[in-house]
Amino acid sequence: MENEKASEKLPRHVGIIMDGNGRWAARKGIMRTNGHTEGLKTARRIVEAASLRGISYLTLFVFSTENWKRAAQEVDFIMSLVKQHLTRELDFYRENHIRIRHTGDITGLAPDIIAEIDEARCGTKDFDGMQVILALNYGGRNAIIRAAQRFLRQSPAMSCGAAAEALNEDELRRNLDNPDVPDPDLIIRTAGEFRTSNFLLWEAAYAEYFITDKFWPDFSVEDFDAALASYAARERRFGANAKIGPAKR
Ligand code: FPP
Repeated sequence: MENEKASEKLPRHVGIIMDGNGRWAARKGIMRTNGHTEGLKTARRIVEAASLRGISYLTLFVFSTENWKRAAQEVDFIMSLVKQHLTRELDFYRENHIRIRHTGDITGLAPDIIAEIDEARCGTKDFDGMQVILALNYGGRNAIIRAAQRFLRQSPAMSCGAAAEALNEDELRRNLDNPDVPDPDLIIRTAGEFRTSNFLLWEAAYAEYFITDKFWPDFSVEDFDAALASYAARERRFGANAKIGPAKR
C-alpha cells in the first residue's frame, strides 16, 4: 500500500455491506441477477486484496434475514451463486490459507447450502490466515435474540430472576455465533445508503463507517484501499474525550 500510515493502523476486522448490485444492473438495462454475478466477482477481488493487506477478519453481508422478501427467482439465484462460489473457490481459499466461517441463522437455509457451508468451514478450519465470515440469512436483531436464547438454554436451572441477573455483555457476547471474532473496526457500505440495515448491530457499537456512492460491482481494490486509508486517519475514542490541545482560558 502506498500510504505507509494506513498500514500502521490497519483494521483487524472489516465488515462490508455489499449494496447496489440491482441498481448497477438497472443502470445498464440488464437483469438484476447479472448485478449479483458481477457482485460476486467483486467479492472475490476484495477477499484477495484484504488477505494480501493483512486484514485478519472480513465479514461479508451476503444475504439478510429480510432478503427473503425478494422474488423467489432472485433468492434462488443468489443462493446458487453462493454455492457455486464455495465449490469453485475452495482451492483459492486453501492456497491463501483463508478460513471460511458463517454467521446467521443456519437453520433457515436449504440443506444443500448448509452442506456447502459446512464443507467450506471444515475444509478450511485449521487455516491461520484471514478469516472470511459469510453473513448468510443474517440479521443483527436475530443474532442478538439467538445469543440470548443460547444463554437461557444453558441456564435452565436458574430462576428467571437469576438468569436475568446473570445476563450481561460478556455472557451475551459469549453466545454470539462466533464469540472469538473481535468486533469490526471498519464497516464499508457501497451504493451510498446511510443505514446499518441490521448488520452486526451488537458488534458494530464502535465501528468506523466508510460509505461510498459506488455500486458494489464497481467497487475496486483502490476503493478498498481508500477505505483503509480513511480508517487509518481517524481517531477512535470509544466514548472517551477527543484528543485536543489544552483548553484556552
Ligand atoms: C446487494 O445488492 C447484494 C445482495 C443482496 C447480495 C448479493 C451478494 C453477492 C452476490 C456476493 C456474494 C459473495 C460471496 C462471497 C458469496 P442489492 O440487490 O440489494 O442492490 P440494490 O439495492 O441496488 O437493489
